[in-house]
Amino acid sequence: MKIAFVESRAAQPSGALVLPLTEGAKWPDAIARFDRDAGGALSRAAVAGRFKAKKGQSLTILAPANLSAARVVLVGLGAPAKVDATVAEEAGGAVAAALLRSGENEATVLLDALPRVGANPERIAAQFALGARLRSWSFDKYHTKLKDEEKPSLTALTIRVANAARAKAAYAPLEAVAEGVEFARMLVAEPANVIYPETLAKAAQSALAPLGVKIEILGVAEMKKLNMGALLGVAQGSVREPKLVVMRWRGPGVGKDQQPIAFLGKGVTFDTGGISLKPSKGMEDMKWDMAGAGAVIGLMRALALRKARTDVVGIVGLVENMPSGNAQRPGDVVKTASGQTVEVLNTDAEGRLVLADALWYCQDRFKPRFMVNLATLTGAIIVSLGHEYAGLFASDDRLAQRLTAAGEAVGEKLWRMPMGDAYDQQLKSAIADVQNIGSNGAAGSITAAQFLKRFTNDVPWAHLDIAGVAWTQKDRPVAGRGATGFGVRLMDRIVSEHYETKGAKSRGRKTRH
Ligand code: BES
Ligand code: MN
Ligand code: ZN
Repeated sequence: MKIAFVESRAAQPSGALVLPLTEGAKWPDAIARFDRDAGGALSRAAVAGRFKAKKGQSLTILAPANLSAARVVLVGLGAPAKVDATVAEEAGGAVAAALLRSGENEATVLLDALPRVGANPERIAAQFALGARLRSWSFDKYHTKLKDEEKPSLTALTIRVANAARAKAAYAPLEAVAEGVEFARMLVAEPANVIYPETLAKAAQSALAPLGVKIEILGVAEMKKLNMGALLGVAQGSVREPKLVVMRWRGPGVGKDQQPIAFLGKGVTFDTGGISLKPSKGMEDMKWDMAGAGAVIGLMRALALRKARTDVVGIVGLVENMPSGNAQRPGDVVKTASGQTVEVLNTDAEGRLVLADALWYCQDRFKPRFMVNLATLTGAIIVSLGHEYAGLFASDDRLAQRLTAAGEAVGEKLWRMPMGDAYDQQLKSAIADVQNIGSNGAAGSITAAQFLKRFTNDVPWAHLDIAGVAWTQKDRPVAGRGATGFGVRLMDRIVSEHYETKGAKSRGRKTRH
């Protein structure tokens, strides 16, 4: 979708006319005049449609008399004093949802008609644009028989603002992030016969290398040399060769001596459970068991596109978990890159095995300031938190706080879960250093986190269990049903808030330590 910011005050824009309104107040004159032209049709429709300008609310009025626009969309921003970035983003999302498949090709949003929304009207405009863009993403490539009225129609969104140049500048970094989110969503939405370790690694390479991200793809031979017996054990049942992808973005103005920060992702391109086979009902969902990897790849793309002044390592462990004559068996003992041995009591607890080797490799090679991994790790986190919050597990309180704040700011919420020695005790194995599931089935998400922690070598670390939020069954404010791209925005946010050096291209924030 093409997004433009303009200052034009042409009387009647073409396409759909989008009128933003806040709660309670009388309609500002710049908006009321359309109602007058239409003989009061808009205000009557607002009453009939119970439109109160609540945040996220929208109302479409078709073919209003005397207006050239085929439709008018009223969109609510809630209480005037509470209009912030999130409100603007959700309003943009609501407009996109209303118009995406409406048959309308263009829309003009009269944000300048509202008397000063929020503290920074250009920021509000940029955030509105981001919401509209994210909400209008859809994955239609495999629909070959869509009727015209089922296809997305909206291709251009024009936002009227007081200062177009400033709005455009505010939108530039957000657009980079939107590209990262969309790339992650695409990878997650692709089925597992299309996206498997080799093709996922190649997709990352072709999306990132041209932007200046250094990317290495390790295959079985290299991983064997690194003694990655846990990752390789998961992969051995599949005919698809596993890959470990190592990405690094060093932005402008970043010193070579600085320690990087690191993000890691679980990239199980399909999780059958292996010999501990999952039930067939719902198994198709396990194509998105690589959503952690998808988010990390999307983050690298966002950082490179906006030329972030930061040093970030991204590592994704890519495997397919299949049952076969060569698959690992429950009870097998594998040796990890860390030297620790693992008794694999359940081959369906595979994500932690993949991440164990990836985490160890990451800290050993890069000595990062911290490691954050994202993984669709446990069904148990859905029991705990549903589909609203991702689970946060951390060995470092400051990192946990920064992640929580970043998630709050971008609408990707995290809820911190407890960890501790008593949980770790449940991982004691009779014959190896550790077993890959807890001994009593209790606190499944926490024991999974305790397992990962054993491979972090005490580097400050956090684990986001995104099993409940990587995919949505219902439409959300800025994501339609399907892949959400959860994590890209959150990671980008913590980077921009805390780990970027000051410079023209940054968002004007200082690096704080
Ligand atoms: N990929 C799954 C977790 C998952 C389940 C994600 C449902 C999204 C929706 C993971 O590999 C898994 O199978 N975990 C097991 C762990 C168990 C065997 C200890 C689980 O959650 O059942
Ligand atoms: Mn599994
Ligand atoms: Zn899995």
